[in-house]
Amino acid sequence: NKKIIIAIDGFSSTGKSTIAKQLAKHLNYIYVDTGAMYRAVTLYAMLNDIIDKNSFDKQQLINDLNLIQLSFTFNPALGFAEMYLNGVNVEKEIRSIEVSKLVSKVSEISEVRKKLVQEQQQMGKDKGIVMDGRDIGTVVFPDAELKLFMTASADKRAVRRYKELIDRGDNVKYDEILQNVQERDRIDSSRKDSPLVKAEDAIEFDNSDMGLNEQFERIMSLVNDRL
Ligand code: C5P
Repeated sequence: NKKIIIAIDGFSSTGKSTIAKQLAKHLNYIYVDTGAMYRAVTLYAMLNDIIDKNSFDKQQLINDLNLIQLSFTFNPALGFAEMYLNGVNVEKEIRSIEVSKLVSKVSEISEVRKKLVQEQQQMGKDKGIVMDGRDIGTVVFPDAELKLFMTASADKRAVRRYKELIDRGDNVKYDEILQNVQERDRIDSSRKDSPLVKAEDAIEFDNSDMGLNEQFERIMSLVNDRL
């Protein structure tokens, strides 16, 4: 009964987490949303006046890293794990547009990345894991048995994210979301430490026009080839 690591990377709102959750459920694997971890560190920095839209005390965040405890707790009612920051469920707060606007600045910091990458590697040590993010196939699990790289047009992605936020009752404008998606992609792809790039051996999926079922079937056949 062989277990593998599935690494899913790609730009913002390409549907990585939707497909990752579906795969994890089907395979009975652990699902880890690494974006949630970077978002939780960002929320910590916001709550402790370390970052806002005008200023960022990077050294203070680095000093505080050992005070930031992240954990995932499975919520059976939802069927997936929720993010906890120092024992508090922050699943709703970390998805806000305010966090989205600052997270890429926080995730540029090497010390932040080092801490989170270590924790992610620990979670995957027994394999049987689906992890999504920006550097999973390149940095966290360079030896992952299956690496996927998801893409979709910026417009399709912004529509997706906009609907998610409207559905949960947030008051946001479509243009604000489109701008945020593009800005994060720019920072994430151009940063020095672990930029978002497709791993050489990753398989690319453009799901702009691909239905979820078709995508799932195609990826499952890649999984089965590796089991
Ligand atoms: O996946 P999600 O859109 O929630 O990620 C939020 C942000 O966290 C990304 O825009 C990126 O700046 C950062 N991130 C990262 N490395 C990862 C996952 C997320 O830098 N592995």
